[in-house]
This record gives sequence, structure tokens and C-alpha cells, in this order.
Amino acid sequence: MSIDNEQDLIALMRIGRIVGLTLQHMGAALEPGMTTKELDDIGAKFLEEHGARSAPMLTYKFPGHTCISINDEAAHGIPGDRVIQAGDLVNIDVSAELGGYYGDTGGSFAVPPVTKENQRLLDTTRAALDAATNAVRAGLPLNVIGKAIEKIARPAGYGILRELGGHGVGRSLHEPPHAIPHYFNPRARQRLNEGMVMTIEPFLTTGAIHVKTDEDGWTLRTTDGSLSAQYEHTVIITKGKPILVTAV
Ligand code: CO
Ligand code: CO
Repeated sequence: MSIDNEQDLIALMRIGRIVGLTLQHMGAALEPGMTTKELDDIGAKFLEEHGARSAPMLTYKFPGHTCISINDEAAHGIPGDRVIQAGDLVNIDVSAELGGYYGDTGGSFAVPPVTKENQRLLDTTRAALDAATNAVRAGLPLNVIGKAIEKIARPAGYGILRELGGHGVGRSLHEPPHAIPHYFNPRARQRLNEGMVMTIEPFLTTGAIHVKTDEDGWTLRTTDGSLSAQYEHTVIITKGKPILVTAV
């Protein structure tokens, strides 16, 4: 969607804050020994208390309120009886709807003891998201996003998952433009417009640039077993720095 009035802005910021707080709340609750279903239940309760509905459940009948993906699982992991272990890298993706508006955020968490390698992957992925959010401006082409992310990921020796792009969001979970590349694609020349609402959500890995779908039909896993991390914000494009809708 494109923001063109105050009501749209207020409603979008409201759901953005709720998904941001839900992610923070789930991250704080995360501990070894709990199942991914237990973690999802904590998120579900928090969303409900704030009047929001799970977007993947609403939109795709996803079998969970949030997506929880561990280690070589990059995205769309189904909450279930898998027990979170010490040393795991846990990605939580929270998207939800309130009053017809959608926000989408995500983040990866390292369960202690945190190896240097895992910390470096998280720090670099966070830096890649920051670089991309600092690069977007009305009038620039979409490919500034991938360019900024590559500049961080490549020297660090990390892969960028190709199939998982950013997307328009706001009046539904996934809107045009679809599949906004997180790697540099010179052909992604569509212009960013003032008011445009979209996600930036780079997935960096310790090797792979592709994912495959598990037999469950949902879970996306790196093709070579390498670890994946992701951070995601919903942003509104402006003439200056974007508004980070899901930052809390
Ligand atoms: Co997301
Ligand atoms: Co998204």
C-alpha cells in the first residue's frame, strides 16, 4: 500500500508496534527446553491481548501464529514439539493484522552458549538490514536494497538467500512489489515512491544462496545445511530516511 493520509499512517503504526512488541516479547521468553509450540503460544496470547490476528494464519491457513525456524531452517518453520536446544539459532517471524492493516517483522536469536560464529552471523545480518534501511529513498531504484546488503554480506563471506525477498505490505500481508531482491539485481529498477510500504528482510547464511521446501510443505531450509539468520522491518519510504514501522 501507499500511505496517503493520517488515518492510514496511524493504523499502520499501531499494528507495526504490536508485531514489534510481540517479537520482543517472544525473544525475551525464549529458552532452551521449551518447544517451538510453547513459544508460539506466548506470541499468540500477546497478539490476542492486543486485538491482532496472525497474518499467516489468516492469509495462508499457516499452522501456527508465528513462524519459528531453527538453524538451517530459514523461514516458515511450523511451531510444534521440537525442543529448543542450547546453542540454537532461532528465527521468529511475526506478522499480524488489526483493523485491515498488516505489519511484518522478524528477528533471529542465539540461545546461549553463543558461539563467536553465530554472533558474527547475527551482527552481520543486523548490519545488512541497517545498511538497506539507510539506503532507501523515494526516487531511487529497488536495487539499492540488494546493493547495500551485498556490500555487508559479501566481505563477511556470507550467502544471501535468493528466493526470500522483501515485499509490499499494509492492506494485506504480501502486496506488490513482490520478491524485492536482497542481492544486487541491476534489473530491479522500479522506483521507490514516497509513502510506499514494504518490508526489508535479508536472510544471510554461512554458505547457501538457495532454500528447498521440506516435506511439510512449509519449512524453507538451506540447500546445504548452512545456518541462516534474518532481521525484518516494515518501512515507509520517504524523501529522507524511511519510517521504521516495526521498530520498538
Ligand atoms: Co516476516
Ligand atoms: Co515479510
